[in-house]
Amino acid sequence: MTQPTEPSNSNQATGCHHPKTTLPKTEALLPWLNQQLSERRYQHSLGVEETARDIALRFQLKPSQIEAVTAAALLHDCAKCMPLNDMYQYAHQHDITIAEADKKCPQTLHAIIGTHMAQHQWGIQKQSVLDAIRWHTTARAHMGLVEKIIYIADKTEPYLRDADFARHVFSHINTGRIDSLDDAMLAILDNTVRYLLEREQWIHPATYEARNHFVQRVGRVAAHPKTRTAVTTPA
Ligand SMILES: [Fe+2]
Ligand SMILES: [Fe+2]
Repeated sequence: MTQPTEPSNSNQATGCHHPKTTLPKTEALLPWLNQQLSERRYQHSLGVEETARDIALRFQLKPSQIEAVTAAALLHDCAKCMPLNDMYQYAHQHDITIAEADKKCPQTLHAIIGTHMAQHQWGIQKQSVLDAIRWHTTARAHMGLVEKIIYIADKTEPYLRDADFARHVFSHINTGRIDSLDDAMLAILDNTVRYLLEREQWIHPATYEARNHFVQRVGRVAAHPKTRTAVTTPA
């Protein structure tokens, strides 16, 4: 099994015995992430960090929130390059229960394992950071601010994601209204659900619940077909 390597800086690798109240610094995370991830996934993680920080700065979030956004963005895919069998073995070794819904949707596993690694290898206790890593793949109803920012940044960062789609999502964001993040969430979730339906794929219940939640949040229960514009890839 390809076990994740321990963080090289022992001051950062607090483990569960000495949980940290502060978040790991970017300088400590980057060399570790570089070991865990392919070059492509590493660059994507940097892109998510840049995009997430940009959203956080647009809304003038507090320094502690920006710190949370930064750590969550860098760590969100930290388990992404682990082979599937190794993820199941990791879950078994650490007594992590994988729900039936997540077994049907194996791309969610890296979010579950990554959350455990962030908590136990980096000693992260801040719930907003752990939730953002945990739910960045499926989304869920009632997401917090950091969760929403990471979800949006993950689907719009410039390294792996389609630029036209990112522009469409960002067209919903109005810096004068923090609730506009809900409009951006709905634009992404509509696109995700449509993509999965078109391919006759199974939809994770958390994604369905998230999509219905944001339809209600945005107040477009009757008018949501308006959101069915423009989520196209360039010719
Ligand atoms: Fe991911
Ligand atoms: Fe990602």
